[in-house]
Amino acid sequence: MSADDHELRSFGRRRGRKPSARQVSLLREDLPRFSFDPAKPPEGFRQNWLEIGFGGGEHLLWQARQNRDVALIGCEPFEDGVIKVLTAVTTENLENVRVHMGDVREILKSVAPGTIDRAFILFPDPWPKRKHRKRRLVNSSLLKLLARVMRPGAELRIGTDIGDYARTMLEAFATEPAFEWQAATPADWRDRPLDWPETRYEAKAVREGRRRYYFRFLRR
Ligand SMILES: C[S@@+](CC[C@H](N)C(=O)[O-])C[C@H]1O[C@@H](n2cnc3c(N)ncnc32)[C@H](O)[C@@H]1O
Repeated sequence: MSADDHELRSFGRRRGRKPSARQVSLLREDLPRFSFDPAKPPEGFRQNWLEIGFGGGEHLLWQARQNRDVALIGCEPFEDGVIKVLTAVTTENLENVRVHMGDVREILKSVAPGTIDRAFILFPDPWPKRKHRKRRLVNSSLLKLLARVMRPGAELRIGTDIGDYARTMLEAFATEPAFEWQAATPADWRDRPLDWPETRYEAKAVREGRRRYYFRFLRR
């Protein structure tokens, strides 16, 4: 694997439908207010949790509502997802949410070591075609970046519905001593923990009858 593999684009579209005037205003006026500055992590919160690729924001918003004393930092390059989250954040006054509209690797390189207390990567893009697999986000390069920013004892949660991706993820973790897989019995990766609400992609996997894998790792 070359040193630059982690720079390959790991996401599909950045834009969907043309935004309405209200949505343009959310991006222009509200995004800067809630945007995440890696040089200045949010202050006044018990912990910093990071969600990578929040999609429609279902899980990010659930965690933000349940944990008002935790800063929820969400990264997502897809504009429609960012608009959804900003709509909820502004209408519900979710002051604990911060957003980076872009590739998470941009901020993982600049945030101070040990800043992140919990991280989530839920149903990352599967890139099913063999020639595209190099684009999969969860690989050894990403684990190195995460190991630097996660404090010892921090938890990393990953969900996927693609068996082959689950396998390559576990292979990457097996060669990364910074993380320890928390699984004593199959139920530990087959059953979704109660404080891990369903996302849109997960619901699709359920509808289409695909097995889901729920992995938890601890930063050593
Ligand atoms: C398959 S979707 C899953 C969305 C959501 N987590 C869910 O479970 O419904 C994967 C998401 O990850 C985002 N993504 C892909 N690469 C990313 C990256 N490098 N940084 C941040 N987000 C990324 C994509 O834009 C996409 O919205």
